[in-house]
Amino acid sequence: MNEQHKYRSTDKMSDLICDNYSLLMVMSRFGLSLGFGDKSVKDVCEAQGVDCPTFLAVANFISEEQYSYSGKESDFSISALMDYLKRAHAYFLDFNLPAIRRKLIEAIDCSGSNDVAYLILKFFDEYAKEVRRHMEYENQAVFTYVEQLLQGRLSDEYNIATFASKHNQIDTKLKELKNIIIKYYPEKENNNLLNAVLFDIFNCEQDLATHCQVEDYMFVPAVAQIERKLKDEQ
Ligand SMILES: [Fe+2]
Ligand SMILES: [Fe+2]
Repeated sequence: MNEQHKYRSTDKMSDLICDNYSLLMVMSRFGLSLGFGDKSVKDVCEAQGVDCPTFLAVANFISEEQYSYSGKESDFSISALMDYLKRAHAYFLDFNLPAIRRKLIEAIDCSGSNDVAYLILKFFDEYAKEVRRHMEYENQAVFTYVEQLLQGRLSDEYNIATFASKHNQIDTKLKELKNIIIKYYPEKENNNLLNAVLFDIFNCEQDLATHCQVEDYMFVPAVAQIERKLKDEQ
């Protein structure tokens, strides 16, 4: 990390979180827990066995308007970034999406006569399935490939450019779901529950978009660089 970045390793971890609360998610996906008092980012990471440059690279990526991969291998660790992405997948699939589904059921009238309610739930389930397919493919195919790459093995059949070219945005369908709810859900006296779930969907959409950007702009170029290096060595 050099001076031009927003956050540095000597900053207090608590200042980072208060500056941008979405970094709470980043922290937990790195396996960092709260209760760090006034410790610096570096000390918190060291105490909890987390790769500090990678944590800072992601925190800065998320908080800065512009990012371009520097090409420096020392900027972050690909395997630490992969751990982070895997934990993010588990968060979306095992926690966030099921929680949104539960809240949706609570908020909409699913008694059977309401066609829009049925449509919303069906749409959501299809969406969750799509996200699962996307993330399981990354966990299984992509990360396995990259782990081999990190051990110095190139593949004849696969490269990261293939993944990048097919890496479709998964937040589009969530936008549609939001629109169905906003535009067509029948009016009721009290919309508190429905509004709460809409807030969750807005958050999830942003979270997923950022997740995909970390993959496209940090992960993919770093992996492509390893591929080039290995090819040159051959
Ligand atoms: Fe992903
Ligand atoms: Fe992805």
